[in-house]
Amino acid sequence: MILTDTTTTSLLRQVAKPVAVSAFGTTELKDFVTEMFIIMKQKNGAGLAAPQIGVSEQIFVYGFDFNPRYPKAPAVPETIVINPQILWHSEETIDLEEGCLSVPNKRLLISRYKSITFTTMDLDGNMHEKTVHDFEARIVQHEMDHLNGVLILERAKD
Ligand code: NI
Repeated sequence: MILTDTTTTSLLRQVAKPVAVSAFGTTELKDFVTEMFIIMKQKNGAGLAAPQIGVSEQIFVYGFDFNPRYPKAPAVPETIVINPQILWHSEETIDLEEGCLSVPNKRLLISRYKSITFTTMDLDGNMHEKTVHDFEARIVQHEMDHLNGVLILERAKD
């Protein structure tokens, strides 16, 4: 699977479908997520969404100790997000230059909510609620955009 493969380009513009109930608890789902972490680390991504590797499903992973693409960013715990729903966001936003593995060699100034609360399923299909802030909240919003077919090109502040 190649991040800039033209076959994945159209998937980047589609709304990804929810992971089916029958997929939870399977080794296929677990192995796919493991592969996503491997690819994300190979590419030094802060996060990686399934549509970026040719799978139009609502899954993304993120997290790192140190990320050379964002050297000022603090460590972010490794996290799996499946079928997320945003429940709340702060009024406050933060502007920061952001990149994307699917939009090579571009950094764009993007406004994101400082804090968000969302629900996510784990690999066994249990629902969890999470509140995240600052850079982690930025990553989650960026990856959720991927699940909705939105790229930083549309989010950029001209
Ligand atoms: Ni991206």
